[in-house]
Amino acid sequence: MNYVIRTERLVKIYHAGGPVKKKEIEAVRGLDLSVRRGEIYGFLGPNGAGKSTTIKVLMNLIFPTSGAAFLFDQPVERPDVRDKVGFLPENPYFYEYLTAEEFLKLNADLYGIPSQRAKEKIDGLLDFVGLSRFRKTRLKKFSKGMLQRIGLAQALINDPELVILDEPTSGLDPIGRKMVLDLIKTLGDQGKTVFFSTHILSDVESVCTQVGIIIKGKLRKSGNIEEILESDDDLFRVRLKGKLNEDLKKFNPQVTGEEIVISPVTGEVLYEVFDLVKRGSDLQLVEVGKFRKTLEEVFLEEVEKVKREEGYEAD
Ligand SMILES: Nc1ncnc2c1ncn2[C@@H]1O[C@H](COP(=O)(O)OP(=O)(O)O)[C@@H](O)[C@H]1O
Ligand SMILES: [Mg+2]
Repeated sequence: MNYVIRTERLVKIYHAGGPVKKKEIEAVRGLDLSVRRGEIYGFLGPNGAGKSTTIKVLMNLIFPTSGAAFLFDQPVERPDVRDKVGFLPENPYFYEYLTAEEFLKLNADLYGIPSQRAKEKIDGLLDFVGLSRFRKTRLKKFSKGMLQRIGLAQALINDPELVILDEPTSGLDPIGRKMVLDLIKTLGDQGKTVFFSTHILSDVESVCTQVGIIIKGKLRKSGNIEEILESDDDLFRVRLKGKLNEDLKKFNPQVTGEEIVISPVTGEVLYEVFDLVKRGSDLQLVEVGKFRKTLEEVFLEEVEKVKREEGYEAD
């Protein structure tokens, strides 16, 4: 088995508007997605990019207009294909009068998990998401972060191989976000495949092994994070300390206080900079590294490209 998730030229058009004024919204426009086993895949895109739509197709909650989607190499329409999938939707609905424990029990029952096994499973999951102390607390008293964690526990009740999470960190404070990201990382360490959508760049940078950037319904860039950030050429980044002089100015340095960063530079230019440092008493070499883009730069570049190509405006 090659791919845990795959879509082939997936298209989803919503028909909105009233009976008179019909409007077509192309939410997903020919998406080719492939996610391998064991990856933590960050499905990154701005609001309205088509992330939730794609996820709903994978969960068979809505149907593609054209194209196809597969889980474990099986068409998503097959009912048994989601037996090994755990899912946390974007805005999960919680029965707020249930306690954490009752909520998980309800979900265990939905999967037909025998009572004794369910009990052990629930204990384990409450511990995993750090909510054992709140097992008897009604969900209506839970904070957003706690709800997100109990939602995650719910998604794991059937011991899935693949966990699909739609914006699991959205609306959380930094502590809540870190907890959820740590849990995602642990799931990855346990060998599970995690596919989660987010519009937050640092989520991807902190836990993902793979990223797919979706903008306006199309996958603009995807792959290993390291590969995506690596620049194509042999370019370097050099960091100096000291006083900016006229000679240095021609390299378009970024200056912050004492720090001078020149990037990206070719090997040739790098030696010119070295010469300047050797000659100038006010300059000190701090660091030379390979030039790397930040994920933010890569992301914004793609947004700009889409803007140029089709006049995209962010929501
Ligand atoms: N049920 C729907 N009916 C009509 N338009 C929809 C519906 N759901 C989503 N959309 C539109 O489809 C586009 C993609 O939405 P969505 O998949 O929710 O994006 P994301 O999850 O990346 O924010 C948006 O323009 C959104 O307004
Ligand atoms: Mg969404």
